[in-house]
Formats: sequence, C-alpha cells, structure tokens
Amino acid sequence: MSPLIRLALPVLAVAGSAYAACSASATMTIQNSGDASAIATCKTFTGDIAIQTDAPGPIAIDGVQKIDGSLIVKDNSDLQQISADSLESISKDFTLSEVQRLNAVNFPKLKTVGALRWIGLPNLQNLGFDAEITKADVINIENTQLQSLEGINVETIKSMFVANNLYINSVDMQLGNVSESLTLSTNNPEVNVTFPNLMWAFNITFRNCSSVEVPSLERLNHSLNLIGNVFESFSAPNLTEVGGALAIASNFELKNISFPLLTEIGANLQIANNTKLSQIVGLPKLKSVGGALDMNGNITKIDLKALSDVRGAFNIQSTGDIQETCDNTFKPMKGKGKIQGEYKCVGEVADPGGEGHNPTKTGGQPQKTGAASALDVKSNALLFGVAAAFFL
Ligand SMILES: *[C@@H]1O[C@H](CO)[C@@H](O)[C@H](O)[C@H]1NC(C)=O
Ligand SMILES: *[C@@H]1O[C@H](CO)[C@@H](O)[C@H](O)[C@H]1NC(C)=O
Ligand SMILES: *[C@@H]1O[C@H](CO)[C@@H](O)[C@H](O)[C@H]1NC(C)=O
Ligand SMILES: *[C@@H]1O[C@H](CO)[C@@H](O)[C@H](O)[C@H]1NC(C)=O
Ligand SMILES: *[C@@H]1O[C@H](CO)[C@@H](O)[C@H](O)[C@H]1NC(C)=O
Ligand SMILES: *[C@@H]1O[C@H](CO)[C@@H](O)[C@H](O)[C@H]1NC(C)=O
Ligand SMILES: *[C@@H]1O[C@H](CO)[C@@H](O)[C@H](O)[C@H]1NC(C)=O
Ligand SMILES: *[C@@H]1O[C@H](CO)[C@@H](O)[C@H](O)[C@H]1NC(C)=O
Ligand SMILES: *[C@@H]1O[C@H](CO)[C@@H](O)[C@H](O)[C@H]1NC(C)=O
Repeated sequence: MSPLIRLALPVLAVAGSAYAACSASATMTIQNSGDASAIATCKTFTGDIAIQTDAPGPIAIDGVQKIDGSLIVKDNSDLQQISADSLESISKDFTLSEVQRLNAVNFPKLKTVGALRWIGLPNLQNLGFDAEITKADVINIENTQLQSLEGINVETIKSMFVANNLYINSVDMQLGNVSESLTLSTNNPEVNVTFPNLMWAFNITFRNCSSVEVPSLERLNHSLNLIGNVFESFSAPNLTEVGGALAIASNFELKNISFPLLTEIGANLQIANNTKLSQIVGLPKLKSVGGALDMNGNITKIDLKALSDVRGAFNIQSTGDIQETCDNTFKPMKGKGKIQGEYKCVGEVADPGGEGHNPTKTGGQPQKTGAASALDVKSNALLFGVAAAFFL
C-alpha cells in the first residue's frame, strides 16, 4: 500500500461514516462500542438510537452533542455502563427500561431531554448528570436504586412520576410549576421532599413520604393528595385554591395540618384515617367545598369558621365528642341551605367511617342522624345531580 493510500483510507472511512451515519430514518441499533464510535464525528445525530438487547457494553456514545430523536435501552440484562461525554441534549425520549445490571450512567453534559423514562434499574445508584438536567417535559423514574435525584433540576415540567425507588433519601429541586402531574409514591418511607419554589401544579400526589415542604405553593388546578405519609405535620402556608379535591388520608403520624390561606376547594375535601389527627383547626379561611366534605377519625375539635358553602354531602364521624359543634355549627348550616348534599355529623362513635357509613354510637345521647329526609334527598339529587357525582 502506498503511503498516500494508507493515509487516505482512514480519512475516507471517517468522512464516509460521518456522512452516512449522522441520521437514521429507521432506528439505528448499536451493538457495541465500535458502532457507537462510528457516529462520534456527528455533532447532531438525527433519528433514534437503540442499544441492542444483548449488547454487553460498556457503550460510550462519545463526540455526539445532540440526538434529535430518542436514545433507548430496553430489556438488556448485560449492559453495565453507558456514557456520552459530549451529549447535551436528547430531543425525545431517554429510555432505560429493565436494564438489570446497569450501574453507571455518565452523561456529564446532558441538560435537556424530552422525556426521561427510567424504569427497572435495580443496580443504578446515581444519575450521573454532572451538568444537571434543567429542561424536560416528562420525568418518570421507577424501580431504581437511586439515592437521590441530584442531577435533575428542572424549573418547569409537564409530569414527574417518581415511584418505588426504595433508597431515595431526598427530593429537592427548583421546580416552579407542573402543568400535568407531580407524583411521588412508595419510595423510601424516609424520603424528605422539598420543593421550595413550586408555585402551581395541575395535580399533586405525595404518598409514603417522610416530610414534604411546599412553602410557595399557591394554586392547584386539580387535586392535592396526601396519602400514607409518615409526617407529623403538613403545612401549605401559601396555598389559596385547590381546583379539584383535597384528600388527606392514612397519614398515621399526622397531628397537625395547616392551610392558613386556603379558601376554596373545587371538589371533595376528604380527611380520613389519620389516626392521630385530633384537631381540624388548620383551615381557618376555607369558605367553599365544591364536592363532599367527608371527615372521619379521632377528632375532638373541628373549627371551620369561614365555611359557608358545601355543594356535596357533609359527613363527619368521630370517636371524639364533637356533637356540640355538629349541632350548634354545622346543623344550622344544613338548615340554611349552605350544605346542599346529605348531612351527617356524629361524635362518640365506635367505628367512624366515610360518607354513606352508618357508625355505632358509643356514648352520649342516642344517635340523631340528622340526615335529610327522603324527600329532601330526592329533591337535592334532582337539583344537584352534578354535585352528587362527586361522592360516587
Ligand atoms: C428525613 O428527615 C428526618 C428529620 O430531619 C431525618 O430523621 C431522616 O433521617 C431523613 N431521612 C433520610 C432518608 O435521610
Ligand atoms: C413556570 O415556572 C417557571 C420557573 O419558575 C417560570 O419561569 C414560568 O414563568 C412559570 N410558568 C407559568 C405559566 O407559571
Ligand atoms: C390527578 O392525579 C391522580 C393521581 O396521579 C390521577 O389519578 C388523576 O387522574 C389525575 N387527575 C387529572 C384530572 O389528571
Ligand atoms: C407567599 O405569597 C406571597 C404573596 O403572593 C409572596 O409574597 C411570598 O413570597 C410567598 N411565600 C413563599 C415562601 O413563596
Ligand atoms: C393551571 O393553573 C395555572 C396557574 O394558576 C394556569 O396558568 C394554567 O393555565 C392552569 N392550567 C389549566 C390546564 O387549567
Ligand atoms: C404507603 O402508604 C400506604 C397507604 O397509602 C400504606 O398502606 C403503606 O403501608 C405505605 N407503605 C410504606 C412502605 O410505608
Ligand atoms: C401546626 O402547624 C402550624 C404551621 O406549621 C403551626 O403554626 C402551629 O403552631 C402547629 N400547631 C400545633 C398544635 O402544633
Ligand atoms: C380508611 O380505612 C378503612 C378501613 O381500613 C377503609 O375501608 C377506607 O377505605 C379508608 N379510607 C380512606 C379514605 O383511605
Ligand atoms: C383512633 O385511635 C386509635 C388508637 O390510636 C386507633 O387504633 C384507631 O384506629 C383510631 N381511629 C380512627 C378512626 O382513626
């Protein structure tokens, strides 16, 4: 081979692959690091890249700065490491799904992804996003061994779903708003959650968290669900309006709720099975409940001093003696039409339950149900059929 040809061949090879491989109309499948290095000269790769299911890796997608498409690893039980030293953005999905042995993801420059979908990564403990992901529409992280979400710091998002990550210690990010939903569920029961800047969200569920701080939260378009958490107190100091339901249920350590500015709940207000919550005094400005007001538990004191409009049913059942409040405060509201649905408010019962449940009285006077007459119920049902749908 002449020296000239020896020199020209590799140059041609690189130029050729750079030209041919910088886009794929169908998915480009990478089987090994050699395939990955074939696109190293592409600043932008256009199309989807998938890592073959039996590719053992490590796979390094070095050189590429942008994937205008998705990067997908699915059902791979061999791959342990994947990296991309220059990659700054993935326009569509970054999917890692059921990659059993994966223990290192190193994307030190990645800042933007369309959707991060990581599900079933039982050996992955760190995100490996040194530059931090600051832009994403969707974050979905389930069944990983991640210790924290350090490396994700989005200001705004459509949906974030983080569930069944049993080792996550903390979630703390600058998130300002959520246009679809934010759900944290069944992670480490000791996870401490802080969203210092979160101002509004469409829909929020916090389940099985150890603490939750949302000091800036002002509005929800739809619901706020607090279920099965182990915090002793929950406070939403700036929350004024919940467009859908507010549900606070099965938080077995909860002793104190505080919603000092909350005036309006669009659908149901449900407070149930919070065994230690004895005082409902943290809703001083609550005026209207668009659905049912449904509370049960060991409640000894209820003060809803601003309440003037409940569109659905009204049900309070407690082991504690609240009968005076029922009779002096809430029953007259029913009389004046400020409670539109069926009315029940009873203290000193053995088995307090939700709307529709008939509890057994333990003390005091024989139970006066206070339920509206059959006729009233019927006319209410006709007049307020829409509201009635809330307590189905
Ligand atoms: C969460 O915070 C509590 C109280 O500060 C602390 O006891 C607990 O260890 C924290 N959880 C984790 C997983 O660090
Ligand atoms: C959402 O939050 C971001 C960051 O805080 C802010 O820049 C943006 O204006 C907010 N958008 C809306 C519609 O509130
Ligand atoms: C709000 O979130 C809950 C829990 O994720 C979900 O079941 C419900 O459908 C959502 N509601 C809307 C209107 O999106
Ligand atoms: C609470 O709302 C007020 C008025 O909108 C605002 O000035 C204040 O900064 C908010 N507090 C937090 C912690 O966001
Ligand atoms: C949800 O509420 C925010 C802030 O109040 C508002 O900007 C947004 O348009 C609402 N979204 C929907 C779908 O109603
Ligand atoms: C999570 O919360 C549910 C109630 O929603 C509860 O039944 C379950 O025991 C909790 N799990 C853990 C691990 O705390
Ligand atoms: C309940 O929490 C609020 C807000 O955090 C606090 O101001 C109040 O003192 C607490 N009440 C009790 C009885 O702990
Ligand atoms: C409260 O607990 C009872 C009994 O375990 C259960 O039937 C009911 O569904 C629970 N209610 C809520 C709102 O979680
Ligand atoms: C009331 O408290 C007792 C003792 O802590 C608990 O066993 C029971 O489940 C609680 N009842 C309700 C309705 O929360």
